[in-house]
Amino acid sequence: MGESTDSRAAVLVDGLRVHLGASRVLDGISLRVAEGETLALLGANGSGKTTLVKALMGLVPVTAGRVELYGSDIGNRRSVPWSRIGYVPQRVNSNPAMAVTAEEVVASGLLTDRNLRPGRRGHGRVMVALDQVGLSGRARESVHIFSGGQQQRVLIARALVRQPDLLVIDEPMSGIDRKSQEALAATLGGLQREGTSIVVVLHDLGVLAPIIERAVVLENGCVVHDGAPPTSGPPSPDQDHFHGQVRGEPPRRTAPAIADGWRGQ
Ligand SMILES: Nc1ncnc2c1ncn2[C@@H]1O[C@H](COP(=O)(O)OP(=O)(O)OP(=O)(O)O)[C@@H](O)[C@H]1O
Ligand SMILES: [Mg+2]
Repeated sequence: MGESTDSRAAVLVDGLRVHLGASRVLDGISLRVAEGETLALLGANGSGKTTLVKALMGLVPVTAGRVELYGSDIGNRRSVPWSRIGYVPQRVNSNPAMAVTAEEVVASGLLTDRNLRPGRRGHGRVMVALDQVGLSGRARESVHIFSGGQQQRVLIARALVRQPDLLVIDEPMSGIDRKSQEALAATLGGLQREGTSIVVVLHDLGVLAPIIERAVVLENGCVVHDGAPPTSGPPSPDQDHFHGQVRGEPPRRTAPAIADGWRGQ
């Protein structure tokens, strides 16, 4: 059963091991994300970041250990409050044979087992979410003609439309231009101020540096740092794993300018 051991945590991971194929990809990860906390997940290519966030979403089999979301064990899927959670994957394989519009993709974020149609109120929320990523003018277009960065922004809107309490987002900054990055940083800053818990996979803090409260660094499937985010300047001896990860300039824009930031792109 999904008995709660820590209902005040948005995420609780304890002794998590994941094997994929012949390899042990995650090796004893323990991690807690408090409600309202913003955490960056860092690490080299192949260190296990995507596998860890997939494990949080129940998308990979767990060999050992436990994952809880809001006090519910993800092994008992029905007990998890999925409607409170938004997830943006690192990659999605799109099928050009299926013409899906941007608004349909975003509306899919509102579907649940019990609610298979977003309805009229849902449509309004879809348009707000598309506006948040600067794509409301392209709602009826097929996502297959969108650029990679635009497709990624549609996926971000699909998570935002859920108005999640916990947002798990895998490398949102890769492949999107600087202006869009700043707009997304403002969006996430606004969510943070509203109390949303955010787990974001990054390679460097970049424009998100001002909102990152804590960093967890993975290496070969293990946590090698859990604490203060990397700061600018040369890494101290115990911060070797931060090499090359320096704070970027804070974004100049703030939350009210969110939608403006995306427009015209
Ligand atoms: N389905 C799979 N079968 C076997 N091995 C896998 C599978 N998926 C991932 N792996 C392996 O798990 C390790 C971690 O992969 P993961 O995608 O979690 O890394 P990552 O930290 O997200 O990397 P990146 O920064 O490149 O996105 C890699 O060595 C990868 O080859
Ligand atoms: Mg990854």
